[in-house]
Amino acid sequence: MLIDSFGRAHNNLRISVTDRCNIRCFYCMPAEDVQFMKRDLLLSFEEIVRFVKVAVPLGINKLRLTGGEPLVRRELHRLIEMLAAIDGIQDIGITTNGILLAEQAQQLFDAGLSRINISLDALDADKFREVTRRDGYEKVIESIQVAKRVGFDPIKVNAVSIRNLTEDQIVPFGHFARDTGVEVRFIEFMPLDADNAWEREKVLFASEIVERLSDGIMPLVASENQDPRAPATDYVFEDGVGRVGFIPSVSQPFCMNCNRFRITADGKLRNCLFSLEEADVRKLMRNGTDEQIADAIRLSISGKKAGHEINSADYVQPDRPMYSIGG
Ligand code: 5AD
Ligand code: SF4
Repeated sequence: MLIDSFGRAHNNLRISVTDRCNIRCFYCMPAEDVQFMKRDLLLSFEEIVRFVKVAVPLGINKLRLTGGEPLVRRELHRLIEMLAAIDGIQDIGITTNGILLAEQAQQLFDAGLSRINISLDALDADKFREVTRRDGYEKVIESIQVAKRVGFDPIKVNAVSIRNLTEDQIVPFGHFARDTGVEVRFIEFMPLDADNAWEREKVLFASEIVERLSDGIMPLVASENQDPRAPATDYVFEDGVGRVGFIPSVSQPFCMNCNRFRITADGKLRNCLFSLEEADVRKLMRNGTDEQIADAIRLSISGKKAGHEINSADYVQPDRPMYSIGG
């Protein structure tokens, strides 16, 4: 089992399949001149499958595909099919911006994908453009409808909340959760943006969002069926209609419950979003044995720190911004 020095068992692997993206969210990517990885540095589907097959006997049973935007990786449904066929994998999810989801939803579902998180920070086309620096709001809304029709369950929306920018989206998102049955999870803005523009003043805290939803719609009550290992704290509106969650990564980090580690699209192991170190598995993948890959995973987990230090004066932002880590 992958148990670190703080007793945390790791069963959850996040696989970034590309650092490319079809939009440019300001809290993740630079506006212009993004330096993407060279294609020959990306792990092939076969290499990803090999890595997962090594990780499963160590205790991994849940996977999530991330990016950049995972759906820009060609034939992604083929990878999902290959991963779903691995004995011991119980659950495969994806975090997508939803732009390409409507056209791929059926294929992805048939391949064995079960959970979808769609990143959407605004319920209005102008604000969407302000955050993402691209058009696409209507496509994302259409994708959510298509994903529901195809049968994905659960579908969640991730909304990064930013002070002086998305306050006016909170109540609309509350109504959206109530009207659609899609859970909306508000994520506090973290210092992982390519532009280094994060400031504590821009973080809209979960507690403030709870207050706005309670005042603007009706009181929220903590949900009874809460997954203790999930980063989000879930609530339902008092009348039982509409589920919202909060990922208070800055104000109340969930590090002590963390069960996840990551492999980047170019084959680097990261035991934390905020790690300053990573282990090169691509090299092992191309020149090493399965046992060496397993050792690299164990070593990475054993060196995992207690948590991130966003709230300390010594915080050092990792060199990789969010799009090249994989969220
Ligand atoms: N802070 C908080 N959340 C972020 N995401 C991307 N960058 C940041 C950031 N700097 C979110 C995306 C996506 C998930 C993987 O992380 O919106 O939903
Ligand atoms: Fe693309 Fe996701 Fe980064 Fe937005 S947060 S630019 S959708 S990778």
